Amino acid sequence: RPVGDLSGVRLLVTAGGTREPLDPVRFLGNRSSGRQGVAIAERAAARGAEVTLIGANLEVPAPEGVTTVVVSSAAQLADACAEVASRHDAIVMAAAVADYRPEHVADGKIKKEQAGDELTITFTKNPDILRDLAATRTPGQTIIGFAAETEPDDDALRALARAKIARKGCDYLVVNRVGWHEGFARPDNRIEIIDAAGTIVAAHSGDKASVADVVLDLVRPD
Ligand code: C5P
Repeated sequence: RPVGDLSGVRLLVTAGGTREPLDPVRFLGNRSSGRQGVAIAERAAARGAEVTLIGANLEVPAPEGVTTVVVSSAAQLADACAEVASRHDAIVMAAAVADYRPEHVADGKIKKEQAGDELTITFTKNPDILRDLAATRTPGQTIIGFAAETEPDDDALRALARAKIARKGCDYLVVNRVGWHEGFARPDNRIEIIDAAGTIVAAHSGDKASVADVVLDLVRPD
């Protein structure tokens, strides 16, 4: 790849996993380490892009030479995206965003002495950031989403992915399998990328930097 092939491209990347607070000391989270999104930010900067990284609870350091915004919850991630999205030519949503958040966040620590033997928590749906960004995109903006699925069957996984990209309205969806032994918090990733028509445009397996390069090949300077 030519050095600087992404120069002039302003890229927004989200990475990590959101944490939805239950009370001042507890949260509901997920196993995303942020490695894949951080690798995308890092490779994009190395290829000459001007990169903004919005990181949610990253377990790896943010790369140098990248403007980094630190968030924790899905609501904070949504606000941070809404603020800067229009200033970018392309958006890669690699963050694992909680689909639901606790309806009420307790002011004080939830106490077992009060809750008793069973604790019921009601969850409320979070806004779909990717779908909202795609719906309000600026002209020419490229929007890439991720789908982390535990579906073991390849054909069923592809069917899920096609339905998902139709729902989200983004340009590309990077599909990877996650679970106890694949995907999150691991150095390698195996992916397929589909476009809005549902066509597989790339398939790749390798370390997260090489996956990042395959994803970034979809982002073209105009
Ligand atoms: O629907 P699902 O969570 O599988 O979609 C994954 C994609 O959508 C990822 O790109 C993720 O960053 C994004 N997403 C989002 N807002 C949500 C849930 C997911 O932007 N509330």
